[in-house]
Amino acid sequence: MEREDGLAQGRKLVAGARRVAVLTGAGISAESGLATFRDSGGLWENHRVEDVATPQAFARDPVLVWEFYNARRRAGAQARPNPGHLALAALEQRKESVVIITQNVDGLHQKAGSTRVVELHGNIWRARCARCGRAAADLPVEVPFLSYCASCPGLLRPDIVWFGEALAPRDLEAAAAALQDCGLFMVVGTSAQVQPAASFAFAAVGRGVGVIEVNKEETPLSSLVSVSLRGEAGEVLPALLFV
Ligand code: APR
Repeated sequence: MEREDGLAQGRKLVAGARRVAVLTGAGISAESGLATFRDSGGLWENHRVEDVATPQAFARDPVLVWEFYNARRRAGAQARPNPGHLALAALEQRKESVVIITQNVDGLHQKAGSTRVVELHGNIWRARCARCGRAAADLPVEVPFLSYCASCPGLLRPDIVWFGEALAPRDLEAAAAALQDCGLFMVVGTSAQVQPAASFAFAAVGRGVGVIEVNKEETPLSSLVSVSLRGEAGEVLPALLFV
């Protein structure tokens, strides 16, 4: 589909929807300077998931895990919302509801002004006790090795959903409700490979609502959605949502 045709078709779907749900992935934060996972040069090219993003990894070597997350916290502290985040936040002014279901942990949707954000995979700015679960407060950008819970002898861990861990039921329920309630589902900057996050996009296709994908490359979703727009989110989203 020609880009202009796709944009025209996408704009029609946007105009006709009152309630919008958006699944976002690392690609929407790439233009804010944050590494994605599976692009060339991505995080999983330089780290093994089993070394830095599983409960076993943390039990085995908590310092290595914190080195990985502190590097992402340092990068995140410099990151600002880009026009893609801002376009989604501004869409709230024109729709009955816009729910962002994000796989990202960088907090940039909230910084951009989005008020309904479901963080499926946690948030890199939060930490909690690995033993009692108590949330830690007032942490510096670089969490000192090794930091302990204020209430028990437990170690602090990033408040991130690691591989092999379950997503929070309240987040899954909120995402499912947004999926059921929306008249338009958008998918932005995700390779659509990680479950259960990607299942929301496939379920939207199954529901028969309009589904618009914005992604730099083709994904398993691209041939299934109503409109698949190839390009950078920071450039495509403003053209799609505000023309
Ligand atoms: N604009 C739009 N899309 C982009 C951009 C951009 N500027 N830059 C990259 N992309 C696309 C890539 O082509 C890729 O398809 O974004 C997608 C990013 O895919 P991944 O790196 O796999 O990131 P994501 O889909 O968010 O990963 C899902 O995997 O490792 C876990 O928990 C981690 O939340 C993460 C999950």
